[in-house]
Amino acid sequence: MKAGYYKTKESVEEYIRLAKDVNGKQLIEKLKQILPQQSVLLEIGSGPGTDWKILNAYYNVTGSDNSRQFLDHLSNDNPNGKFIELDAISLNTDLRFDGIYSNKVMHHLKDNELSESVKRQSEILNSNGIICHSFWKGESSEIFKGLFVNYHNALTLSAAYGAYFEILSIEVYTEFDDNDSVLLMARKK
Ligand SMILES: C[S@@+](CC[C@H](N)C(=O)[O-])C[C@H]1O[C@@H](n2cnc3c(N)ncnc32)[C@H](O)[C@@H]1O
Repeated sequence: MKAGYYKTKESVEEYIRLAKDVNGKQLIEKLKQILPQQSVLLEIGSGPGTDWKILNAYYNVTGSDNSRQFLDHLSNDNPNGKFIELDAISLNTDLRFDGIYSNKVMHHLKDNELSESVKRQSEILNSNGIICHSFWKGESSEIFKGLFVNYHNALTLSAAYGAYFEILSIEVYTEFDDNDSVLLMARKK
């Protein structure tokens, strides 16, 4: 993987192929326990659109990504879907949501970028809005196959989100290797 991995046609096609059997069904089941169905939901970093399709069965969901390549794929694959170009840091939109969901996206943000994003997430949520984000679990950060990866755990997530959100749960789970992931669910203060 190189720095622009999510931005070229070839690498995006490769990612879609490699990730075809991976989805966030178990995370979405947890989201459904706290965010009522038909709520207005934003997905950040929809990528291939696998989770978007699951979310779309329950929610009034808008998918988003900051990669034109992924957005083209999403729109072609789901002609009736709602998709917007959106960066996870600035979240520059006038739309408002009852919930925000992302699956393995926010780990690409550096600590200061995550702080900016958390504030914006709070601003674009309606009152009592819910967030549900998954991260790779661990400590510190690294460049993994050319992409910046910021690892998180209960301490770093509480520190990053605690000022704007009431933490509802921080759960460790397994995606590929034992306990390699962590899911944050929180409510806007
Ligand atoms: C690891 S993929 C995950 C995609 C999808 N959520 C899934 O579970 O298959 C990361 C996605 O986040 C997007 N992404 C990375 N950084 C982003 C940012 N700053 N703003 C918006 N999207 C971003 C990438 O373009 C890519 O679609």
